[in-house]
Amino acid sequence: MTDSPELAPGTVLGIAGSPRRDGNSERLLDACLAGARAAGAPVFKLPVVEYGIAPCRGCNACSLTGECVVKDRMGEVYALLDSAAAVVVSTPVYFATVPAVLKALYDRCQPYWARRYQLGRPVPEKRPGGLLVVRGGKDPYGYECAVTTTRSVFAVIGLTVAEPLVLEGVDSPSDIGRHPDARLAATALGAGIAGSVARG
Ligand SMILES: Cc1cc2nc3c(=O)[nH]c(=O)nc-3n(C[C@H](O)[C@H](O)[C@H](O)COP(=O)(O)O)c2cc1C
Repeated sequence: MTDSPELAPGTVLGIAGSPRRDGNSERLLDACLAGARAAGAPVFKLPVVEYGIAPCRGCNACSLTGECVVKDRMGEVYALLDSAAAVVVSTPVYFATVPAVLKALYDRCQPYWARRYQLGRPVPEKRPGGLLVVRGGKDPYGYECAVTTTRSVFAVIGLTVAEPLVLEGVDSPSDIGRHPDARLAATALGAGIAGSVARG
């Protein structure tokens, strides 16, 4: 289920889940990937909005073949997910869950579900997974749906689910600048994930 390019062994893949480039969640991800790189891991950032991922059609073709019939840049994403040693997702909260661009990527992971639960194919071993969540915080419905949805996808694609790092009270893209502690925590998370990868 892969299109090239595959990642170098030991690479930590960071998925920037916002439709807004260089905003709060992407900058937090950058801090996390910097921590992983400093700890010796190769890193690769996937800004999901640049990939133009189409929604899942619900056609269930993957239930028969384990492959997605939609041919777009998700093919590259499958290759990245398959070859990553660890994956960190960074997402803003949009109406209590993840933005549509990231949800499209998540829904297109249905072939992994089909392979695992319907086709009995070998599935990836458990790899380290990390989750960074940012939100304005004025909406009363919380962020837990973003975490639950991500946990559901991580379970299917073979990622462990670490405790998410959640940052509230950031709206304008520069707001992250007022939160050096959050950036430090993200850097430490990245270093920890790289350490887990190195230990195997
Ligand atoms: C369409 C939309 C929906 C949003 N919904 C929520 C929400 O439900 N809860 C919340 O706390 N913040 C919400 N926000 C605020 C974003 O989570 C916040 O601005 C975040 O910092 C954006 O991250 P980014 O800079 O990485 O894009 C929403 C923002 C947008 C544009």
